[in-house]
Amino acid sequence: MNINIFENSSLGSQFVANRIGKVLAARNLVSKPTVLGLATGSTPIEVYDELIKKYRNEGLSFKNVVTFNLDEYYPMEPSDVQSYYYFMHQNLFNAIDIQPSNVFIPNGEIHEHKIIKYCEQYDDKIAEVGGIDIQILGIGANGHIGFNEPGSERKSATRFVTLDEQTRKDASYTFNGIENVPESAITMGIDTILKAKEILILAWGKRKAEIIKQCLFGEVTSTKPATFLQAHPNVNVVLDVEAASLLDLD
Ligand code: F6R
Repeated sequence: MNINIFENSSLGSQFVANRIGKVLAARNLVSKPTVLGLATGSTPIEVYDELIKKYRNEGLSFKNVVTFNLDEYYPMEPSDVQSYYYFMHQNLFNAIDIQPSNVFIPNGEIHEHKIIKYCEQYDDKIAEVGGIDIQILGIGANGHIGFNEPGSERKSATRFVTLDEQTRKDASYTFNGIENVPESAITMGIDTILKAKEILILAWGKRKAEIIKQCLFGEVTSTKPATFLQAHPNVNVVLDVEAASLLDLD
């Protein structure tokens, strides 16, 4: 894994947006679609701001971009301000020229009897468009990626999951109390994520320092799902100095 450390999250986010912009511009030139795997949460917000700037100021077009989001709470209506559907439209999609038909976000309203089939089709759709070119990831305090909570298998596919207590606690602030945080979600699987051609995992701040250390250098184990990234051939870890503060890099 390549570890990239920046003075602050803004510089780290610019690095990530520049990488995405470069791949996108090159593929746009030869009219090839670019497939992006996207995350929500606090971590990628500045990256999305930078991408919007590139669209507005540098003419970078997203017309040929297809996106797949990592996860969505379940049950969850897209119009709900807590939904990841809402988050993505507020923070990125409404401000760029992406085609709505190219946006894929797990459906938090799918009927429970249809979830298994729906999740299979989500993975099939990713394969059908040629696989994810660049996957953006944040990391949970418990080492989750997407909503692959501790215990998630290396070979897991997109599926319905029960959220970890820690994850629900972390979300309780935005939901105004843990009792309002959904207990379940639909998430891309570890296997789905690891099939991406390139992965950028981002972490900012001291509260991520310990889990970053464990996930980059600890034993590979399903109790810390992000450790599975160690086996991927093309991962860029993007950290600010605080998130990198416990790494021994000599
Ligand atoms: C969000 C997601 C999660 C977050 C993680 C970190 O789509 O998949 O894995 O990336 O929980 O969240 P933040 O960025 O809010 O610290």
